[in-house]
Amino acid sequence: MLELLKSQQLQFFLLLPAWLSNMSRDRNLVFAVNGQRFELSDVDPSTTVLEFLRLHTGFKSVKLGCGEGGCGACLVLLSRYDPASDRVEDYTVSSCLTLLCGIGGCSITTTEGLGNTKDGFHPIHKRFSGFHASQCGFCTPGMCISLYGALVNAEKTDRPEPTKGFSKLTVSEAERAISGNLCRCTGYRPIADACKSFAADVDIEDLGLNTFWRKGEDKEASLSRLPPYDQNTDIRGFPEFLKEEVKASDGLGVEKCNWYSPVTLDELQCLFGQDGMDKGHRVKLVVGNTSVGYYKENQRWDRYIDLRHIPELQVITKDKTGIEIGAAVTITKSIKELRDFSECLPNLDSGNIFRRLADHAEKVASWHIRNSGSLGGNLVMAQREKFPSDIVTVLLAAGSSVHILAGSKHEIVTLDEFLKRPPLDSKSLLLSVKIPIWESRSSKILFETYRAAPRPLGNALPYLNAAFLAEVSQCDSSKVIHIKSCRMVFGAHGHEHAVRARRLEEVLVGGRALSLSLLREAIEVAKETVVPEDGISSPDYRRSLAAAFVFKFLVPLIESTAPMTKYLDGYANYSLAKDIKQDRKQLEDVAAQLSYGKQVIEVDKQYSPVGEPVKKSLSTIQASGEAVYVDDIPSPTNCLYGAFIYSTKPLARVKGIRFSPRLPKDAVISVVSFLDIPAGGENLGSRTVLGNEALFSDELAHCAGDRVAFVVAESQKNADLAAEAALIDYDTEDLEPPILSVEDAVERSSFFEVPSFLQPKQVGNFSEGMAEADHKILSARIQLGSQYYFYLENQSALAIPDEDNCMVIYSSMQCPEFLHGTVARCLGVPEHNIRVITRRVGGGFGGKSMRSMPVATACAVAAQKLNRPVRTYLNRKTDMILAGGRHPMKITYSVGFKSNGKITALHLDVLINAGLSADISPIVPQNIVGALKKYNWGSLSFEFKVCKTNHTSKSAMRAPGEVQGSFIAEVVIEHVASALLMEPDAIRNVNIHTYDSLSLFYGSNAAGAPKDYTGPSIWSKLDSSSDLARRAEEVKEFNIHNKWIKRGISRVPVVYEVTVRPTPGKVSVLSDGSVVVEVGGTELGQGLWTKVKQMVAFGLGLIQCDGPMELLEKVRVVQTDTLSVIQGGWTAGSTTSEANCQAVKLCCDTLVERLRPLRDSLREQMGSVTWEVLIEQAYLQFVSLSASAFYCPESILMRYLNYGAAVSEVEIDVLTGETTILRSDIIYDCGKSLNPAVDLGQIEGAFVQGIGFFMLEEYTTNSEGLVNTNGTWTYKIPTLDTIPRVFNVEVLNSGHHKGRVLSSKASGEPPLLLAASVHCATRTAIKEARRQLLSWSGMDTTDSPFQLDVPATLPIVKGLCGLDSIEGYLHWRMSGK
Ligand SMILES: Cc1cc2nc3c(=O)[nH]c(=O)nc-3n(C[C@H](O)[C@H](O)[C@H](O)COP(=O)(O)OP(=O)(O)OC[C@H]3O[C@@H](n4cnc5c(N)ncnc54)[C@H](O)[C@@H]3O)c2cc1C
Ligand code: FES
Ligand code: FES
Repeated sequence: MLELLKSQQLQFFLLLPAWLSNMSRDRNLVFAVNGQRFELSDVDPSTTVLEFLRLHTGFKSVKLGCGEGGCGACLVLLSRYDPASDRVEDYTVSSCLTLLCGIGGCSITTTEGLGNTKDGFHPIHKRFSGFHASQCGFCTPGMCISLYGALVNAEKTDRPEPTKGFSKLTVSEAERAISGNLCRCTGYRPIADACKSFAADVDIEDLGLNTFWRKGEDKEASLSRLPPYDQNTDIRGFPEFLKEEVKASDGLGVEKCNWYSPVTLDELQCLFGQDGMDKGHRVKLVVGNTSVGYYKENQRWDRYIDLRHIPELQVITKDKTGIEIGAAVTITKSIKELRDFSECLPNLDSGNIFRRLADHAEKVASWHIRNSGSLGGNLVMAQREKFPSDIVTVLLAAGSSVHILAGSKHEIVTLDEFLKRPPLDSKSLLLSVKIPIWESRSSKILFETYRAAPRPLGNALPYLNAAFLAEVSQCDSSKVIHIKSCRMVFGAHGHEHAVRARRLEEVLVGGRALSLSLLREAIEVAKETVVPEDGISSPDYRRSLAAAFVFKFLVPLIESTAPMTKYLDGYANYSLAKDIKQDRKQLEDVAAQLSYGKQVIEVDKQYSPVGEPVKKSLSTIQASGEAVYVDDIPSPTNCLYGAFIYSTKPLARVKGIRFSPRLPKDAVISVVSFLDIPAGGENLGSRTVLGNEALFSDELAHCAGDRVAFVVAESQKNADLAAEAALIDYDTEDLEPPILSVEDAVERSSFFEVPSFLQPKQVGNFSEGMAEADHKILSARIQLGSQYYFYLENQSALAIPDEDNCMVIYSSMQCPEFLHGTVARCLGVPEHNIRVITRRVGGGFGGKSMRSMPVATACAVAAQKLNRPVRTYLNRKTDMILAGGRHPMKITYSVGFKSNGKITALHLDVLINAGLSADISPIVPQNIVGALKKYNWGSLSFEFKVCKTNHTSKSAMRAPGEVQGSFIAEVVIEHVASALLMEPDAIRNVNIHTYDSLSLFYGSNAAGAPKDYTGPSIWSKLDSSSDLARRAEEVKEFNIHNKWIKRGISRVPVVYEVTVRPTPGKVSVLSDGSVVVEVGGTELGQGLWTKVKQMVAFGLGLIQCDGPMELLEKVRVVQTDTLSVIQGGWTAGSTTSEANCQAVKLCCDTLVERLRPLRDSLREQMGSVTWEVLIEQAYLQFVSLSASAFYCPESILMRYLNYGAAVSEVEIDVLTGETTILRSDIIYDCGKSLNPAVDLGQIEGAFVQGIGFFMLEEYTTNSEGLVNTNGTWTYKIPTLDTIPRVFNVEVLNSGHHKGRVLSSKASGEPPLLLAASVHCATRTAIKEARRQLLSWSGMDTTDSPFQLDVPATLPIVKGLCGLDSIEGYLHWRMSGK
């Protein structure tokens, strides 16, 4: 093949449609969406595909989750047809970044286009639904399109035809297809299963719980029930009409509307020289436009020039000197070309370079960004704006050069030089990149690339990346290795762009043989090279990574004594964990299959269909994108849009608001502030029984993120631009300094009162407990940060003024009742003037209880003021800044314990940062104690201070207080274990409650009967089901043999107290026998409606008509409407589903009672009576067929305890701090689950959200309290690649529970606490690394206790393992010990 390359310089233009090169210059924009033709004559060129679809078509499935390419909720499949080759290219793109004018002649497919209610659903939709892969549903359309894109492209390959019903997709491709999509509800496992169910190589026994078959059923039978897939019918082709138009036309692109698509460099030069462009017009060159995801545009451009149609920028040239790739070639295409090129190079070394480049590029962003983002765009971002690029780093190490066109001057310069030049001006062009072939007859060329990022595959910029190329030779006799030349590059380290570490290179090629001392020197120099700028996070960590990467690169060359060819050929496969081959092998097997899990459920038919794993109600329309969220409701005529202007100061007088002059004059319709609260109304944004929060700050802004005003415009885009362009004039003269820490609050006695009914109760006598202790730990400290909800659907509301001073409000909201009252009081109208409607919520997690209220209330005030409908959909940044989130806290504890580990006394002092308003904060102490009491502490005392600070108000977030309480308990246990040199598991064992101590700590009402206490049996069951003892031994063994990778395993229990609250329900039977149900709770994805439907079917089924009733299919639960069902209360605290179920059960009981006499008399007359006949007759005989009920649990039944336990095993990379969760096993008691599939989804989803809290998510602020992790770039929730690789969950059916709703128990929040097992396992692994480090320095290996912060991010883990562990190791080795 190389010969071929030599003799015949291959040059071709990548799929550049010929028709594009003759484009007409004044053409309308023509394209298709889901087969429907669109022709536009006038388009604002800044319009994205997402804006167009959502605002101008009925296709609402594309959701706005982030607007920055980071979540995948907005994905569409973009297809381009090339008439010359008669081929179609299909790829997924983020519609939030893709510009509409750039898609002329293309076809867009959204998930509605795959199938829908009217035309029938696509197998993707059916399988997502059947595998329980959609909860709130907001991510689901994007997930479906990711999978569809992968399917379409797999079907184009020449792989063998798959078995009927499957595709050519592989399991690994199926999983990777969704690796860049975020889901906050499911925990990903079921989504991965739905995707894998299409793969040709899947073993269906590996697929998880679904509605198509039951575990253990015959394979053939199972397969036959899977919704069939047939590529001939299920892959939608490119629309024929568009093909014909593309063929017939000389172009379907626009050249109007200030959008230009030059097809030659000359044309481009003409455009640059054109009148106007030289006269200060702002001109933007675009390719994929993905840079806008990072560099947000808050200004308008006069003209756009699309570079994709210029052949020189699409070129791919491969010859014996290397490969040249046009700057407009996408990253995806570049990867493919690099791989193909590497295949055809016979020389292993050079082939390896291109393979490694491709491997690294695959970790850049996600599919949907790589599919449209270009190589050149990436380079220009790095060159011009210092973007922390991966691509630049690896290309620089590979010795690349670039072709630039400045004016009419062509230049080829090294990438190194290009980067050093002043930023490329707006009229200069990057044409292409050339990567040379590296060959050497006498030596080996080694090439490796590295990056350490919070998520290995899922869309995360690295803390540091590096790429090293070295030409090495080995002395025949001594076998030592010399580096003859090298290119050592570091990038993304928070300092300009990637740089060659010249001094490091000089050290390495100085003629010295590679040795440990040279390595030590190299490492020092590497650390001096990586100097992050001031203000960049974790600078020492980044420096230590430089050392780690150099170590990883060089150590195999030093440690080996094998002959070079043999050894170096295997270099690429060298593993630092080589000593345990078996374990590596197992790990690699698991890695090949990213997620695998076993689900154990027990189906209880006693109350059928309650208890059955019925699929989530309406999940198919969630998958097809037809499910309607607030922002999908079409805007009423005259509708306006609002956006919040918030303070960036923690405490300041607001003197006025101006707008930057760059904002178009007509952009703002009105600015609504506290001055606009109607007479008789109140400046009220949210309220609970514990306190109120103002809607707008008055003259004083009280925190960074305080709502100062609501700017109203004709479009959301303009409202957002205006809010961004708002300049607040502050004055802080004579003001007290703000309270920005809990310590400040204590000093100034700034607290919220905890009412006596919420005061947690102490247990026993702390002093006596301490007196019994053999050992004491006094005043140990820990602290916990906040967490952001990251619901995929941002806060949204629509307020519509109605007749007679009424207002209808659509809100994405967890407690419409409280919003209802808030709006009424704010507007100063009676509550019957207000109506709040919530159909479904795209994820809440507590963030849509209190924090939604001001959003909807602001819309209502604006609507009232302007007498027009007003809506808002907060952008992600604003949402994150205003949200508040979980309560940060500082804890000081003292604990006394016996020598056998039995704890005798625990005291806590807790300072809770509650922020500005009370919100639900006074509840938090009780919740902390509720979960903390999972162990028998002997005696327990505490002092809580709920601190009022100048931060945004902290609010309920899934398990508020409980997750911290449970974690504090584990910290204490681990600390005691460490002090006694015992295993933490042993300490847990001696402190787990007996039934008696449980009753003492929780009270006998909550503890229930002795047999209800399933904690101990779960604990021991998990011991055997997870094979804990054997695996713990294996972990020990592994750690003995591995220096740079350590493992840890840990088991933790959970005891979680919940309260059942009163709630209403209403069930109405319509004349055809169909049933409509209303409940107080809102559907957040937690499966409330599904359980309610099952309960209604069960409850009405008790009438026992003749023949099949099939009631489940007849029941529809409808939106929450606060005028139809009042006193709806909160959808929170894990018990809403069971309480709502009980409320509808009471309604059903009433209806059955009313219908029974009629049934009996009909049966007497007719012999048998069907449901339909019974209802028909009931209508004729005026039986009331609507029943309401208000379920009020007896006080004794209101509180109860939930139990579960988890074992997690992790592996940490001591050199980078990366943690991989190898396996998690959970057993969680759901009583008699109302729906085990729904509960399983809650358990997995909560656990993964907990992983986010414990391991990944940093919700931080600047020194003034303004949230600075305010988007997908900085806030990292788990993705598919960060969940446990093996994820086993058992939903325990513990049988009868007196007083519970059909014996069921809660599942929404408690399992989140179990993710502490991952954190504890990580701590165990770190402990091993620390012991090893101590041993290298000859010190006592008894590790001193240490605290592992939450979240345990890479810098934290590495910091504890020793930022200088390599230096320690080298010192040890070199001192010959
Ligand atoms: C969510 C997300 C995650 C990402 N993660 C990573 C990552 O992990 N690692 C990494 O390296 N990168 C990452 N990126 C960056 C990504 O690779 C770039 O956004 C992409 O390559 C830019 O290409 P584009 O065609 O979209 O550029 P555009 O946005 O179209 O253009 C970018 C800039 O370059 C200019 N420009 C483009 N082409 C030329 C040219 N030929 N000559 C002159 N000027 C030009 C444009 O005017 C614009 O100013 C990420 C991006 C996103 C959105
Ligand atoms: S909304 Fe487009 S990727 Fe998030
Ligand atoms: S189902 Fe994925 S975000 Fe809710």
